[in-house]
Amino acid sequence: MRLLIIISCLFSLSIAQEKNIGKLLVEKYNCLSCHDFSQKRTGPSFAEIAKKYGTSEKSAEEVAKIIINPPSFMPPFKIPFSQAKAIAEYVLKEGAKAAKEKKKKEYDDSYLDLDSQFH
Ligand code: HEC
Repeated sequence: MRLLIIISCLFSLSIAQEKNIGKLLVEKYNCLSCHDFSQKRTGPSFAEIAKKYGTSEKSAEEVAKIIINPPSFMPPFKIPFSQAKAIAEYVLKEGAKAAKEKKKKEYDDSYLDLDSQFH
């Protein structure tokens, strides 16, 4: 039983670390100078990117390749695949979260509009 607790602690620690590494790398490479999680800036929002590619392991690998070898207007990041994948996992997860929150807000706002029509 004790062993099980230790194992599950180690497991959640490694997940937390993975998330932190992705976050740290996003800051280090300044992705947020051109991308935002919910709004379009110079580049598409991570919410849009998460919608387009999904959030699976395969999506993260696909997006990692794009970070290393991006489409026309984004500078390439010549970084190890493992780093690019940690970044991809982080931005897809947070992007999906931002997309969900945005959708909820739009829904809430439309309810407010509806409310004001009847009062
Ligand atoms: C100098 C500005 C700039 C920086 C810095 C930048 N990007 Fe981009 N990014 C763009 C632009 C512009 C596009 C859209 C390119 C296009 O569609 O031709 C893009 C596209 C992308 C795409 C592909 C979206 C798609 O629909 O296929 C991903 C993924 C992405 N960026 C992630 C990142 C990540 C992660 C970082 C940090 C490591 C980063 N970008 C840093 C400008 C930037």
